[in-house]
Amino acid sequence: MHLENLRLINFRSYEKFETDFSDKINIITGNNGVGKSSVLEAVHYLSLSKSFRSNRDEEAIHFNSDHFVSKGTFVSDDGVRENISISFSKNGGKAIKSHGKLLENSRDLIGRHPVVLLSPEDIITTIGSPSGQRKFMNMTMSQVNKNHLSRLMSYRGVLKQRNAAINMAASGRQSYENTLDALEEQLGELCSSIWEDRVNFINEIFPEFQKIFNDLNEGKKEGTIEYRPSVSGTKNEIMEVFKLRRANDFNMGFTTKGLHRDKLIFKINDRALKKYGSKGENKSFMIALRLTQGKFIEKKTGIKPIYLLDDVFMELDRKRAIETVKYINGIGQVIITTTNYEEWSDKVGFKVNLIGLS
Ligand SMILES: Nc1ncnc2c1ncn2[C@@H]1O[C@H](COP(=O)(O)OP(=O)(O)OP(=O)(O)O)[C@@H](O)[C@H]1O
Ligand SMILES: [Mg+2]
Repeated sequence: MHLENLRLINFRSYEKFETDFSDKINIITGNNGVGKSSVLEAVHYLSLSKSFRSNRDEEAIHFNSDHFVSKGTFVSDDGVRENISISFSKNGGKAIKSHGKLLENSRDLIGRHPVVLLSPEDIITTIGSPSGQRKFMNMTMSQVNKNHLSRLMSYRGVLKQRNAAINMAASGRQSYENTLDALEEQLGELCSSIWEDRVNFINEIFPEFQKIFNDLNEGKKEGTIEYRPSVSGTKNEIMEVFKLRRANDFNMGFTTKGLHRDKLIFKINDRALKKYGSKGENKSFMIALRLTQGKFIEKKTGIKPIYLLDDVFMELDRKRAIETVKYINGIGQVIITTTNYEEWSDKVGFKVNLIGLS
């Protein structure tokens, strides 16, 4: 699967923008601030109906406008085309369309045209914050399993209700026992199945991740991923945890245990990357993680995802850059941004589609 073209209206710094892509390697070059990352952001919208830079869609609207449109044509490996458009307006909100027909919600879009993203912002959050780590798991699994996405959405809803019930109960405004019993039963069930999905996911990607990380580092370093769930076990066991935490949660004012508190621990040679990793080590760790993510999506769905690589070569030394380029060649459609293509173009032993912005 690949994206054939992209058209933007009032998106970030573009009033209008149009480009075609090749189904292999595309390189977007240009100076700082010309709008390279914005193009990747617009493609991300077409795949996942949201940005990777912000949770506020209005930030992507051109300063002088009240709406944006991102449109593109995806082509499957057997040649079937699908026109997707995402528009967002300050008054009307978001509309997702396939061939001009409105889709009911983002669940209908997610997974149809999967993407793998590697951006500097995302490296910081994924390595550094548990919420970024959970996002990595959620986005990967949601793109391959609609039930997982539905369970996550339900969990979010029920968690909100439990937090509201806790606050009502703590202020003595309501009898809460029955409400909490019912909500915790739902949370127990959702947590148990999502925990199981996460355990399986990490177990499944781990060998592939180790191999890629090893290759990128010439076998000199070992990268590991550990999953640290906040709760685990059967529905009943997890319900019990929620119940035991009630008094504590009343004090805190929110639900302190649950899959919304899960973590991943990334290590190089048994030392926490977050604490001890260099910039380049962080980067090569994330490259390995994202390439693994792509392989996982491909294995589960039979669709090669589109790789969006923002500033991927910055901070990499020559050897690692060459290893990365080798990996990228042949994995599917790749869109890379860079300010200094001239500096590493000699390392690329294959034809690329160069998109120069100014
Ligand atoms: N809503 C908006 N409306 C108009 N311009 C915007 C908006 N949001 C961001 N910009 C501008 O868009 C420009 C392009 O940003 P973008 O991040 O895409 O550039 P870039 O080419 O990736 O730069 P870099 O090489 O520094 O990463 C910036 O100058 C930014 O100020
Ligand atoms: Mg950029």
